Amino acid sequence: MIALIMAGGVGTRFWPLSRKNLPKQFLRLFGDLSLLQMTVERLLPRFSLADIYIVTASSQVELIKQQLPNLPQQNIIIEPFGMNTAPCITLSVEYLKNIYGQKETMLVLPADHLIRDQEKFLESLNPAKREAEKGCLITFGIVPVYPATGYGYIEAGEEIAPGVRKVLHFKEKPDKQTAEEFLAKGTYFWNSGMFCWSLESISTAFETLLPDVYALTNEIGKIWKNEGLDKDIASIYAQMPRIPIDIGIMEKANFRGVIPVSYDWSDVGSWKSLADLTAGDADNNYFSSSGKAISAKNNYVVSDKFTALIGVNNLCLITTKDAILLCNKEMAEEVKKIVDYLEQQN
Ligand code: GDD
Ligand code: MG
Repeated sequence: MIALIMAGGVGTRFWPLSRKNLPKQFLRLFGDLSLLQMTVERLLPRFSLADIYIVTASSQVELIKQQLPNLPQQNIIIEPFGMNTAPCITLSVEYLKNIYGQKETMLVLPADHLIRDQEKFLESLNPAKREAEKGCLITFGIVPVYPATGYGYIEAGEEIAPGVRKVLHFKEKPDKQTAEEFLAKGTYFWNSGMFCWSLESISTAFETLLPDVYALTNEIGKIWKNEGLDKDIASIYAQMPRIPIDIGIMEKANFRGVIPVSYDWSDVGSWKSLADLTAGDADNNYFSSSGKAISAKNNYVVSDKFTALIGVNNLCLITTKDAILLCNKEMAEEVKKIVDYLEQQN
């Protein structure tokens, strides 16, 4: 089995730390390693570095090389620009088919998740590989622990193989009330955005469900074959629709399975979720460097300056060289609006 890490997203949810040229996957949110580096580390007991591939936009290649200096250069699959996950996967499948052949199985992972339970994660790859070899498109469904609205959901049906259930429906990011209903039903799982399939079955799924994308992919394949991997494919890639794999393929495919898993997983989608994953002091205040809190609780501070908190609760305070974010933890998702505002000003 080979692994493909999708690392071309342009997250804005960690503004002002994440910027267009430094998306979330490259941030060191949990210590010395970035989320991308942690994703690679998580795989290493099972995969050799030679079988781990990163797909990313050309603008992010240098960052990948800096963060993963030991990764062979040919293991970076370069998109001319980000076009969302369906195009980045079809491009990678084309690239990898030529190296490994159609029958190889492939694990697809986002670059920006936190999974603390490495052993359970690696164990869940066994049934995934087994079913992928039979032609099934496998997803990993996290047992939900609260009615999240930032994740997609998968409704699971009967067991089709040990540890694997049939996929009934995909439902991308629901509203609060629907999320509460899903949680109560017990048959819904968070869509982890991780997948496993054979190169052949995902290729066939593209051919059937997104024939235009499949045709463009073939065109790129021919260029790579005849003119080399360095040949500019931007004009063809630009014709791809910007669609996520969940909507483009997984929602409609026939032979799909979900592996319910209960590992400690988060896509670390906001300052609030990062704060929830980070241990604070006795009053649950967290300071990335130094600080002192008086009559203050549940605050999360990222700053290289000594920070004093007095009589304030539930805040995120993030300071960088050129910007400061001070926000109510519960409204951390609204950071996107600031990024939109700043983009309009430019
Ligand atoms: N190479 C490449 N090119 N990678 C991309 C691109 C692209 O154009 N677009 C996104 N990615 C990468 C991101 O870096 C991330 O690692 C992953 O693909 C998923 O993209 P996100 O943009 O983070 O998706 P999301 O979080 O909104 O939603 C997806 O993930 C959730 C779980 O984290 C969906 O699959 C949801 O249903 C799911 O719950
Ligand atoms: Mg995400």
